[in-house]
Amino acid sequence: MTQTTSTQAATEAAVQQVLRFEVDPGVARLPEPERAGILAAPGFGKHFTDHMVTATWTPAEGWHDARVHAYGPITLSPAAAVLHYAQEIFEGLKAYRHEDGSVWGFRPEANAARFARSARRLALPELPEELFLSSIEALVRTDVDWVPSGGESSLYLRPFMFASESFLGVRPAHEVTYCVIASPAGAYFSGGVSPVSIWLSTDYTRAAPGGTGAAKCGGNYAASLAPQQEAFAHGCEQVCFLDAAEQRWVEELGGMNLYFVHADGTLVTPELTGTILEGVTRSSILTLAGGLGLRTQERRVSVDEWRAGVASGEITEVFACGTAAVVTPLGRLAWEGGETVMGTEPGPVTMRVRQALLDIQHGRAADTHGWLRQLA
Ligand code: COI
Repeated sequence: MTQTTSTQAATEAAVQQVLRFEVDPGVARLPEPERAGILAAPGFGKHFTDHMVTATWTPAEGWHDARVHAYGPITLSPAAAVLHYAQEIFEGLKAYRHEDGSVWGFRPEANAARFARSARRLALPELPEELFLSSIEALVRTDVDWVPSGGESSLYLRPFMFASESFLGVRPAHEVTYCVIASPAGAYFSGGVSPVSIWLSTDYTRAAPGGTGAAKCGGNYAASLAPQQEAFAHGCEQVCFLDAAEQRWVEELGGMNLYFVHADGTLVTPELTGTILEGVTRSSILTLAGGLGLRTQERRVSVDEWRAGVASGEITEVFACGTAAVVTPLGRLAWEGGETVMGTEPGPVTMRVRQALLDIQHGRAADTHGWLRQLA
């Protein structure tokens, strides 16, 4: 057997193994009253469920040792490659509890596909879609009591993969770890649905052509932290990046895509140029818009068009979107020496788009696009 064939065989065996996922018995669960206290006001990314998923990849064995076990610290060699060269990717998706108690994921196949694309860019092994999906199902089923109900709450799922090999040479790691953790989630922004202020970064860029901008890798987010601090220092909640080549074209926020609402009812979003994250929420809105009587355009948007459009009334609303933030109105855009105000209240189009998306996710509207997948 060649190495490729044996790796494929090992991967297929791992997929079979995960389809019959074994959960470690006897994992201590947080007592119900404490869990209920957390679920009543979960915030974002602060609390984690009782279990987590891990699986390991090596060239010889492919994906193996897939388990659902107690949530807890990961033991890593100080020489683990991820700690030095940041060979890491992640995903973010949510599970929603519907009124009848069932639990559904929103387009997890899209996250699985993006995870594979990110893996290719970071020279990590691809995780087969079946393995991605079954890992999520296994964790959600095991920790189903952690899926909140009511309001806009959900269980945020965070799959991630990193170079765990102990080796300081600069090459793709020969041992890789895949994990999924889950965190009950309320609103991403603590102010709820109120307009968020944006700092336009001109000292920093997020991604350059040929770089990792379209991949969901930790390094992109690490690089956004200094500009994000600059945003805070200027009294803003989020940072907006322009393109690296001309410092002219609007790309995205620190962790969200952007939409501009035009006076004629057109939704315009920056086109995917290889430097922008291919957001699942972004793409869902492109599909949903027609049913809401809105046209869409994916094209380049300059910061001058943004400023002039707000001043003239051509741009009536601007919103951000992402799995964590859902659809969030933007209120104010500030830059060195100036600012423009889009609105002090959430705009009507923003709120319609937001509601349409949430209604599908929470099972209150028909899933005509086949986006929901039952997890529990
Ligand atoms: C998401 O929306 O899932 C994100 O990844 C954004 C952020 C929390 C990193």
